[in-house]
Amino acid sequence: MLSKRTIQIIKSTAPVLAERGTEITTHFYKRMFSNHPELLNIFNHANQEKGRQPTALANTLYAAASHIDELEKLIPAVKQIGHKHRSLGIKKEHYPIVGENLLAAMKEVLGDAITDEVLKAWEEAYGVIAKVFIDVEQEMYDEVDNKEGGWKDFKPFVVVDKVKESDVITSFYLKPKDDDILPEFLPGQYITVRVKVDGEQYLLNRQYSLSDASGKGYFRISVKREAEPNKPNGKVSNFLHDQINVGDELEISSPAGDFTLDVKKDSPVIFISGGVGVTPMMSMLNAVALENPNRSVAFIHAAKNETVHAFQHEVEELMEKLSNGQTFICYEKPQNMGSGDHIGYISKDVLEKFITDEADYYICGPVPFMQAMIESLQELGVRQESIHYEFFGPALTLEQM
Ligand code: HEM
Repeated sequence: MLSKRTIQIIKSTAPVLAERGTEITTHFYKRMFSNHPELLNIFNHANQEKGRQPTALANTLYAAASHIDELEKLIPAVKQIGHKHRSLGIKKEHYPIVGENLLAAMKEVLGDAITDEVLKAWEEAYGVIAKVFIDVEQEMYDEVDNKEGGWKDFKPFVVVDKVKESDVITSFYLKPKDDDILPEFLPGQYITVRVKVDGEQYLLNRQYSLSDASGKGYFRISVKREAEPNKPNGKVSNFLHDQINVGDELEISSPAGDFTLDVKKDSPVIFISGGVGVTPMMSMLNAVALENPNRSVAFIHAAKNETVHAFQHEVEELMEKLSNGQTFICYEKPQNMGSGDHIGYISKDVLEKFITDEADYYICGPVPFMQAMIESLQELGVRQESIHYEFFGPALTLEQM
């Protein structure tokens, strides 16, 4: 339990620290990686370079600090992060390393502007916040470990098929090397793929949504080749596209994530995706076609043009299995005029045609795309609790808090 005085210090200093939050966490990461370079086997270097990860950690810590006396309110947000941590193999012994380096970074960045009493209060608060994360994540580890076919950390899978879905997206079908059965997962969940790329000093981890339904005897991920192979962002996707073939092995962690569809629900569902954001939607659409084909479904997808439009035939086939399904395709700049249902972006006018009472809306795609979709749905009067979305990369704001 934190004392009243500690709580008071944390609450009054959180806004001050928040102002310099990214500066502190950027320094913290540099410091931590020079003391513990082995952690570079876990962190996504691309997110570090863009400053996304420091910002995400800073936002979370200051939001947590301002709720330090009512931490139960943070549980939904902690769970979302906990899924990511669990899928990367973050353990309780990692927390003191983060704590120690973070406090030292506060001291080094703020200098005399932070007193020993304030630092001490933050040390205590970090301990309390870390415990919330550790407990949530321990439950998640136990859950995946106890699941039939489940496993705790990474395990080798074999690529049993590799299928080109568009000029930029390729699917990999994966089966466990040990021939064990696969655990059930919820449509919308992702896995972490961990690879050793030639010439790279550290292991590289990336999360990919599962793009097919559970229960089919394989996991499928569908990877977009990022345009710049030599930039951190494109390293793993280009490696997978170019170097990984049928028969090769990949290490993956158990499915994780809470951007999921309740398949059994009978109310209408509208899937809205942009580009490779289609992948979790494919898992959801496959699951509905398999388990609840009478559900009313609209599948709205935006692609730059026909050549990068993935899963066109699979969606058509799935629509035939649904008694009440419709598809709407938008091409930003089609190569053949007249193809697709709409030229340009998914506008508010497009979305308006699909608004129905009681519907749930699932959105996935690049950040500006999602922001535009969420805004349009809100303007069309859709309730916040009916809008579900997942950002790629670290969550930069925690509106849940
Ligand atoms: C991701 C917060 C502790 C490693 C994240 C994210 C947040 C966060 C907000 C982004 C989640 C997302 O992508 O949706 C925190 C907080 C911590 C903490 C508040 C302490 C209380 C740790 C520890 C480690 C760690 C102890 C391991 C040493 C990571 C990694 C990611 C991540 C590897 C994935 C993002 C990337 O690789 O860029 N964390 N974290 N975190 N965290 Fe933590």
